[in-house]
Amino acid sequence: MIAEAAGGQIGVFDSGVGGLSVMQAIREQLPDERLLYLADQAHVPYGTKSLAEVRSYAEGITRFLLAKGCKLIVVACNTASAASLHYLRQVFPGVPIVGMEPAVKPAAERTQTGVVGVLATTATFQGELYASLLERFANDVTVLQDTCPGLVSLIEAGNLEGEEPRRVLESALRPMLHQGIDVVVLGCTHYPFITPLIQAIVGPGVKVIDPAPAVARQVKRVLEENGLRHPAENGAVAFGSPMVSYRYFTTGDAFQLQGMLLKLIGERAPVERLRWEGTSLVEG
Ligand code: DGL
Repeated sequence: MIAEAAGGQIGVFDSGVGGLSVMQAIREQLPDERLLYLADQAHVPYGTKSLAEVRSYAEGITRFLLAKGCKLIVVACNTASAASLHYLRQVFPGVPIVGMEPAVKPAAERTQTGVVGVLATTATFQGELYASLLERFANDVTVLQDTCPGLVSLIEAGNLEGEEPRRVLESALRPMLHQGIDVVVLGCTHYPFITPLIQAIVGPGVKVIDPAPAVARQVKRVLEENGLRHPAENGAVAFGSPMVSYRYFTTGDAFQLQGMLLKLIGERAPVERLRWEGTSLVEG
């Protein structure tokens, strides 16, 4: 099942553009690795769907990424991780899979006031993963939660600093500030793209935690443990053409994602279109 070659790529997926925040962190820490990014924009947002539905999408995507020769899968989505991480590891034994979880532990370690805020989707809060994080790490702190309704869709549409995202964030964060939070956890990979807005609302005294760099470090560790680090000297030769190290797929509108790549990560790159056929992904 697993691609043997260390020269294989890392498959990264999310419901949409959020996982690009994780991909960026991986690129910074592992510049020689080739990455394949898949945005399931036909189904975005995941956060309001059932865990079973999201699990089935995650399985179809993982199957596609492995068929493409990916050597490691990054579930760059808290919602998909909550819904499927455990399941994917059972269905694809031997495949290294790295997932996301809201950074409750670092937040609990860091808070001075004993009150922390978590912004994540409804599905993430409903999952067992989140419940177990609270049980293990949040016994001595108060954790306040908000699902920021509509925020993922606004970010997908490229609205990163307008009135609408500000309104959603104000209504999530003001009550948390009144209760004394000094740490905010970004429990959805879309949210790092609106960190400036979040920081402007909470002020400089509140720490905003983006878990992406820690996830990238975990990817590096797992690659090393499995002897899968890309041989650096081959780093520029990818997908049959030199210098193409990053490849993008969407189940939604390829042109729209192309625009968002430029806006969010400053990258001009082609985007390939995928279609769902039942529970499988097909190209074209
Ligand atoms: N970026 C995702 C997450 O981390 C998914 C958001 C959504 O599709 O609702 O949860």
